[in-house]
Amino acid sequence: MRTLTPAELVLMKKACALTHDALEKAESLVKAGISTFELDKLIEKYIIESGGYPACKGYEGYPYATCISVNEMVVHGMPSKDIILKEGDIVSIDLCVEYKGLIGDAARTFPVGKISPEKARLIEVTKQSFFEGIKNLKVGHRLGELSHAIQTYVEKNGYSLVRELTGHGIGRKMHEPPNIPNYGKVTDGPMVIADVCLAIEPMVNMGRKEVWLMEDGWGVITRDGKPSAHYENTVLVTSNGIEILTL
Ligand code: MF3
Ligand code: CO
Repeated sequence: MRTLTPAELVLMKKACALTHDALEKAESLVKAGISTFELDKLIEKYIIESGGYPACKGYEGYPYATCISVNEMVVHGMPSKDIILKEGDIVSIDLCVEYKGLIGDAARTFPVGKISPEKARLIEVTKQSFFEGIKNLKVGHRLGELSHAIQTYVEKNGYSLVRELTGHGIGRKMHEPPNIPNYGKVTDGPMVIADVCLAIEPMVNMGRKEVWLMEDGWGVITRDGKPSAHYENTVLVTSNGIEILTL
């Protein structure tokens, strides 16, 4: 957890606004028949034209601007010409935008056309778990209070949380300490301090929590093959409360 200076915060807010705008653009492009490769290229173009840089590209050798994960893919789906969206799919799009050295990170799961009520409920519970979590994100409180609130809400709704991946601090690097699990005890984790940015990102499975790593070394899929959803925002914590910068 690192405190950002007022000057860094100005840039951070801009990076996060561009992240939000890129996700809104992504949403407008999601439709049956488009490949995830095409989607990635169009989003990348939009980010660059808006004055940002798609920070995923080149991160630990990752070759794309976005991660696009369809149905049972949890996160880090590599865009592909062979993955064509079809009616009834759910598609998670995760992207980071860098602006003058500061990075915003956010993800949403979108429906492709008409989806089943079960998938719609998964998307809704995943989103709501983020908001349940941040009610417990406060200066002077342990981060575990947020983690615990996310887990309690998701499990109460009959779903499970992925253990292998977490939220994270963010700022000049995409991933800064601390890791922010989406499960745990209220007594876990460090105390939250003021003027830090955190990426909070529940990854919720409709079925069991276990996942596989795909052969490409990136994609994470559910072991039971059931769908998964993702909802992420970059959040600023201050002594006056929190601000969701990518909303
Ligand atoms: N945006 C992802 C996160 O939430 C990271 C994607 S991995 C990358 O942490 F290689 F694509 F950048
Ligand atoms: Co993230």
